Amino acid sequence: MNDDTIRVGIFGVGTVGAGVIELLSENRTVIEKRAGKPVKAVKAVVADIGKKRAVDMSQIELSDRPESILDDPEIDIVVELIGGLDLSETIILDALEKGKSVVTANKALLAEKSMSIFPAAYRANGCFGFEASVGAGIPVIRTLREGFSGDRIITISGIMNGTANYILTRMTEDEMEFDQALKGAQELGYAEADPTFDIEGIDTAHKLIILMNLAYNGLFNFKDLKTEGISSITSADIRFARELGYRIKLLGKACHTGQGVEGRVHPALVPEGHIMASVNGAFNAISVTGNYVGPSVLHGLGAGSHPTAAAVVSDLIEASRYHTTGQQTPLFPFSVAEDQLQPLKMVPMEDIRSEYYLRFNVQDQVGVLARISKILAENNISIRSVIQKGRTSDPASTVAVIIVTHESLEKDIQKALLSANQLDFVVSRTQLIRIEPN
Ligand code: HSE
Repeated sequence: MNDDTIRVGIFGVGTVGAGVIELLSENRTVIEKRAGKPVKAVKAVVADIGKKRAVDMSQIELSDRPESILDDPEIDIVVELIGGLDLSETIILDALEKGKSVVTANKALLAEKSMSIFPAAYRANGCFGFEASVGAGIPVIRTLREGFSGDRIITISGIMNGTANYILTRMTEDEMEFDQALKGAQELGYAEADPTFDIEGIDTAHKLIILMNLAYNGLFNFKDLKTEGISSITSADIRFARELGYRIKLLGKACHTGQGVEGRVHPALVPEGHIMASVNGAFNAISVTGNYVGPSVLHGLGAGSHPTAAAVVSDLIEASRYHTTGQQTPLFPFSVAEDQLQPLKMVPMEDIRSEYYLRFNVQDQVGVLARISKILAENNISIRSVIQKGRTSDPASTVAVIIVTHESLEKDIQKALLSANQLDFVVSRTQLIRIEPN
């Protein structure tokens, strides 16, 4: 360890890495006051050392060899920003083993390999920070780990992906097509390297499971989390939702019910007066309800270079304080004691209850509504409202029939749609969007 400076080695100088280097330099005076010593990025490891960077790298030694950071005893803190699973896992485990503190924004790794990473973080002699993994600039990890540590958490619900929220916002407000809106999000640096993660809800699922693990005191299996994305949402759904008084948002939701903990990620119709309906663009909002603290909402920029860098640097300062003050034992890296890092089970999706928006795409024939209603009734599903649009002079044309249900069981809805999708006048797979909060 170096005595007068905290020395940081960074893996990955992309959008976030460049933001971290810039922030450490621009805010160095205030960071030094808060950390107790100057905090300097001194080394970086990247795949292509010849690539032009968006930030001044003149004070940073660049290499393409991980050992240049990992084997350097003068490096106090390793920042992992390369993403992915295998190489990042190796780097983090090696750094922890060598007594370095580690800061990461890698939600995929923490969600999918929690059983490998967190026990190692408890055994380590350094700190382990992952504030940037969820909600970028929103300090939700600290809120759950420290702020609400005396509470039993009842629900966590929110918009956790800036790219998907940006796309849905542009589709709603500017009547933009999906592809054009996605391109805009990529240009603004919100999207993951593979935007499928953003669009198909996987990025939200990674973040939700990290929050669930913190809130419910153990480790859930990522594969148990039912995940649906926004790629099947059409401009027609957005229009019908507005007509019904809703906005469509991609939500991650976990809830402690009498049956256990539910967790799910899917697009949802949110009433337009609800706080989540007004969260737009790359903003994220995460609402947490605890049994003593009650409901609270954190709102802020959930993607992009600067907000994510702010979260990484907050972890760098926490780790620097530990190194500066020479503490023997870091804080718990997680919300519970190490022996509580046990696998947890989720309530199966088929057992959840919700209200549903169903869009049937049908040939406009006599008896269509009656036959669909019959199937719903046979499956215990009660109808709240119906909209039918678009009869044209062409008898072969198709029309949308929108049915909003009262609260129903997911298992019943899925069974009903299986039958309804086989009706001869149903021309394409029926759209199902859950209505929240329910
Ligand atoms: N791709 C993510 C998002 C970035 O759009 O929210 C932060 O995780």
